[in-house]
Amino acid sequence: MEVQNKIEVAIMKIVVIGGSGLIGSKLVPKLLERGQEAIAASPKSVVNSITGKGLAEALKGASVVVDVSNAPSWEDVAVMNFFETSTRNLLSSEGTAGVKHHVALSVVGSDRMLESGYFRAKIAQENLIKASSMSYSIVRATQFFEFLKGLADISMDGSKVHLPPVLFQPMSADDVTAGVGRIAVGAPVNGTVEIAGPEQFRLNELVQRRLATLRDSRKVIADPRARCSGAEVNDQTLVPSKNAQLGETRFETWLTQPAAKMAAAAH
Ligand SMILES: NC(=O)c1ccc[n+]([C@@H]2O[C@H](COP(=O)([O-])OP(=O)(O)OC[C@H]3O[C@@H](n4cnc5c(N)ncnc54)[C@H](OP(=O)(O)O)[C@@H]3O)[C@@H](O)[C@H]2O)c1
Repeated sequence: MEVQNKIEVAIMKIVVIGGSGLIGSKLVPKLLERGQEAIAASPKSVVNSITGKGLAEALKGASVVVDVSNAPSWEDVAVMNFFETSTRNLLSSEGTAGVKHHVALSVVGSDRMLESGYFRAKIAQENLIKASSMSYSIVRATQFFEFLKGLADISMDGSKVHLPPVLFQPMSADDVTAGVGRIAVGAPVNGTVEIAGPEQFRLNELVQRRLATLRDSRKVIADPRARCSGAEVNDQTLVPSKNAQLGETRFETWLTQPAAKMAAAAH
């Protein structure tokens, strides 16, 4: 018990790349609450993992780097360039700075969705990390509740949303943050951990429910031939393995939380 407590209170400098984003802006305060020295790093705070600007300075004295950045463009070539260049720059700067643990947020099922340029880029990111000499933890999360409207937006065919009626197990951004935070303060797993929501749904049905809560009148068509984020999916593609760590927040509970209202306002 005493040893555990000592590990818990060991203060580390943890740099959160993408610290201004949806997950990053929740993660930094959460780590600070736990007594860690957490720093948000992104172009807004003049730290750029593509150009390298501000990176060496931000990483000075850091023990852990958590990469929760995302590409500004999801076009095939642009997104691949982003994750490859950013990950190479981070790993190289971390080596120079003596960082001990690289944590990256990826997506459950990325390896099953290689038809999509976005997921090819996430796998390229994962492969660069695995091939590096850095100790690492890859955290693969399922889709965020906050992303349900975004999923509708990228699944339009004419005036209707077309999505396949496959199983999926999304989670709240707060639970993603808790999962990533837990891994960030622990020892590197040098492997992949999956995190997911507590309930399974049919993709088309949950997106329709979310649109209804936003008073968005678009109709979601259950279309078995429709792609999800540009990839063919089935009942196994989006759901995690049985070893996944499950968050607590159920969809109906999330809808009552400020996060759901903020996600609505953001759109
Ligand atoms: N959406 C989902 O359902 C889902 C599911 C599982 C995993 N994920 C993964 O979760 C991760 C985080 O997603 P998110 O929604 O939190 O992202 P987000 O809100 O779009 O935030 C993106 C962050 O990346 C930063 N960034 C962009 N270009 C950068 C650069 N050149 N250097 C450093 N930082 C840069 C942005 O900084 P500025 O604000 O300064 O521009 C921002 O802080 C992604 O890698 C994604 O693949 C998403």
